[in-house]
Amino acid sequence: MNIMVVGGGGREHAIIRSLKKNPAVTTIYALPGNGGMAEDAVCTGISATDIQAISAFAKENAIDYAVVAPDDPLVMGCVDTLEAQGIPCFGPRANAAIIEGSKAFAKNLMKKYNIPTASYEVFTELDKALDYVKSAPIPTVIKADGLALGKGVIIAQTRQEAEEAVTDMMANAKFGASGSTVVIEEFLTGPEVSVLAFTDGKCVKPMVSSMDHKRIGDNDTGLNTGGMGTVAPNPYYTEEIARQCMEEIFLPTVNAMNAEGRTFKGCLYFGLMLTPNGPKVIEYNCRFGDPETQVVLPLLESDLLTVMQATTNGTLSDTEVVFSKKHACCVITASAGYPLSYQKGLPMTMTEEAKAHTYVAGAKLSEGKLVTSGGRVTGTTAVADTLEDAVKEAYRLAQGVCFEGAYRRSDIGRRALQAKN
Ligand code: AMP
Ligand code: GLY
Repeated sequence: MNIMVVGGGGREHAIIRSLKKNPAVTTIYALPGNGGMAEDAVCTGISATDIQAISAFAKENAIDYAVVAPDDPLVMGCVDTLEAQGIPCFGPRANAAIIEGSKAFAKNLMKKYNIPTASYEVFTELDKALDYVKSAPIPTVIKADGLALGKGVIIAQTRQEAEEAVTDMMANAKFGASGSTVVIEEFLTGPEVSVLAFTDGKCVKPMVSSMDHKRIGDNDTGLNTGGMGTVAPNPYYTEEIARQCMEEIFLPTVNAMNAEGRTFKGCLYFGLMLTPNGPKVIEYNCRFGDPETQVVLPLLESDLLTVMQATTNGTLSDTEVVFSKKHACCVITASAGYPLSYQKGLPMTMTEEAKAHTYVAGAKLSEGKLVTSGGRVTGTTAVADTLEDAVKEAYRLAQGVCFEGAYRRSDIGRRALQAKN
C-alpha cells in the first residue's frame, strides 16, 4: 500500500512511525516531511497547503490512502479534493473542519446543543466589542475567530489589556483576517486535559488522555508556544470524568455535527478544562494535537492504519482501539529564542539511542547533514511502567539531541507527578 501523510512536523513523524508497523504498508510519502524523518518516509517537500500539488502527487504516485494531519489543509478542503479523485482519506472534510477553523462556529454549536463551555459573545464590529469589554468580568479571554497558529488567544488581566487586544485584532489586523471576528469569553479555571478521539461520525473512541505544557518557561511561565512537552495519561482525567465527558461532550459534539449536516470523521481533539462546575470545552481541533500525538500514539497497541481506515469506512464500532496501561512523556528540544526569533541552520546530532525515540519537527538535510530549521526541533518520547520513570527516561534520551543553544523545559511531567501524590 502506498500511503501519503500531509504535514511535516513531529506529529506527522509519530503518525508515520506508527503506520509503518503495518506490514501491508510499502511506501509512505510525507508532504512536505522534513530531513529528520527521511529514514522513515519519502519526503517530497510539497507544501501541506498546496492542495493542487498534493492532488497531482496523489494521482501520479498511485496513493491508496491519505492522512491529512495539519489544520490548514483540512480547513482548506484537502480531504474533499482527494476524495473527489477517489482516494480514501483520514481527516474531516472542510465543512466539518470548521469546528477548528472558526471559533465562532464552535461556540455557537456548543450553545445550540448544550455542550458545556465558557459563556461568550461573538463580535464583528469593533465599537460593540469595546463596549462589551467595558463591563466584562476581568480577567477576560479574547480569541481571534480563525486559525492563528495557536497565538490568537489573549487572557486579559486588566480592562486596558482587553481593549488593546480587541483593537489589535479587529482594527489593526494583528492576526490577519482571522481576527476580523472575535469571541470574548468567560475566564475558566481548573486543570487542562487534552483528549484526542477517533470518530467515524457514528461512534467515538477516545484515545488515552494527555497533558500539554504550553508555556516556554519552567513552572508555566513566559510566552505561549506550540507545546514544550506532554505526558500521558493525564492524572486529573479519572474514569468518572471520562464517563461524564463521553456523555456530556464527546457524543453530543459528534451528534451535533451530524445534525448540522457536517459529519466529522477523523481525529477530533477536545481541549478540556476541569472546572469546579464540571468539564468544559476550551477548544476543539479537527486533527491530532502536537505534541500530544507524540505521547498518545506510542501507547496505542492496536494497529493505527486499521483504526484510521475504520473511521473512513464507518466501521469504527467494530474495530478495537486499545491503549497500553503504561505512561509516556515527550520532551521538546527547541531553538534558543523560540517562540520569538531564533537561528536556523545550526548543525545537529542525535545519538542512535535518542534517534530511535525522537520525532523530528524542525530540521532539514543540508549537504547530507542534519541542521535545525524551526523553533521546535525535536520531541523525544519515553514509555515506562510509571510516569516517574517515563519522565526520567525522556530527559535522559533527550540529552542525546545536540545543537548550539538547544533549550528544554526542565519540569515536563512535574505537575502530573504532583497531582498523583
Ligand atoms: P487555545 O489556543 O484555544 O488552546 O488557548 C490557549 C490557552 O489559553 C489554553 O490552553 C488555555 O490555557 C487558555 N484559555 C483559553 N480559553 C480560556 C478560558 N476561557 N479560560 C481560561 N483559560 C483559557
Ligand atoms: N498542542 C495543542 C495543539 O495541537 O493544538
